[in-house]
Amino acid sequence: MKKALKIVGFCFGGMLLLLAGFCAYVVAVGVPTYDPPTIPDVTVERTPARIARGEVIAQIQCMACHADNQNRLTGKYMAEAPPIFGKLYSKNITQDKEKGIGSWTDGEIMYFLRTGIRRDGSYAPVMPQYPNMADEDLKSVVAWLRSDRFPVQPTREEAPPTELSFVSLLLTHTLMKPLAYSPKLIALPDTTDPVALGRYTADAIGDCYGCHSGDMIDQSKTEPEKSKGYYGGGIEMKDEAGKSVLTANLTFDQQTGIARKYTKEQFIRVVKLGVRPDGSILRQPMFPRPMLSDNEVGAIYEYLKTVPKIKNDIAQKTAEVQLAEK
Ligand code: HEC
Ligand code: HEC
Repeated sequence: MKKALKIVGFCFGGMLLLLAGFCAYVVAVGVPTYDPPTIPDVTVERTPARIARGEVIAQIQCMACHADNQNRLTGKYMAEAPPIFGKLYSKNITQDKEKGIGSWTDGEIMYFLRTGIRRDGSYAPVMPQYPNMADEDLKSVVAWLRSDRFPVQPTREEAPPTELSFVSLLLTHTLMKPLAYSPKLIALPDTTDPVALGRYTADAIGDCYGCHSGDMIDQSKTEPEKSKGYYGGGIEMKDEAGKSVLTANLTFDQQTGIARKYTKEQFIRVVKLGVRPDGSILRQPMFPRPMLSDNEVGAIYEYLKTVPKIKNDIAQKTAEVQLAEK
């Protein structure tokens, strides 16, 4: 009996040592780097149609994280990120050749947006990846980044470097990985099929599931519907005043989902303008998305009807969180 205990003790001690060693290794290495990639050889033609479409995608994605209060993409502090991940800052992605991405090739930008890997093999864990964005939309983003629009004009201002917490570092060695680059063409959805258009707009362009699922980490960027609690909501975030706000349950669960609250018209209004049917205003980080068309937001509503229903009472959870904050 005693001997058995001793063996268990040794095993346990050994495991602790291994764990301590792994932690020390993670701290010493920092974010892992990868082999410098083979960058696709593309030159994006900057047509007015692409620049206009790129602007829509930029307004829904890039601006929220990269724009300073003058609307220039200098990079900024990411206040809404939970503190457990560290102090996160985005980067200057203006056309400045040194501080921004003026010296990146079109292919390097496209590769990075799909995978999270820069040309030198370094990995940007905080920046979302867009593996399901259609080639044509990705090219539109590049065309806009290269355009004469105000936000992307070169400026040397930049945000401080990110300070990742130990938890974040640990994640980059375990769950968070760059994505593979697929040379296959990713096509735009069939715009005459509302469910397909809605799914694409919500998952590939809007990244709605990124906030409206059950967990920030347990998500699949390549197959969003495999994310934990897909569209069931409940992730705790911070509004501009630093107060907790929980993401909504967007499934059509009759008791706890949004179905019971919104008609399609009301849904379009709340997503585009940020105003609920009772006149109340949605809090940050849920910003209004007037850049999407009624057709696109209506399509998201149609798509959400097809998503597996999840019972998750956000109102009750919010009350609990608020009670704990007092
Ligand atoms: C959720 C916030 C977020 C969104 C949305 C976002 N970014 Fe980023 N981005 C970041 C952060 C944070 C970094 C710094 C990454 C790091 O250091 O890990 C970054 C880094 C980058 C870089 C690398 C810059 C460098 O010098 O290394 C590029 C390029 C970039 N983003 C472009 C874009 C574009 C284009 C979009 C829109 C399609 C976009 N980002 C959307 C947060 C975001
Ligand atoms: C950065 C995180 C984030 C992203 C991305 C995001 N949301 Fe939200 N959303 C929230 C939060 C937080 C709330 C809760 C706001 C509140 O309670 O005031 C919310 C609330 C909502 C509501 C209101 C529900 C209610 O309770 O009345 C709807 C509808 C909604 N989001 C739809 C969307 C759609 C559609 C997308 C994609 C186009 C999206 N959201 C993307 C964070 C996000």
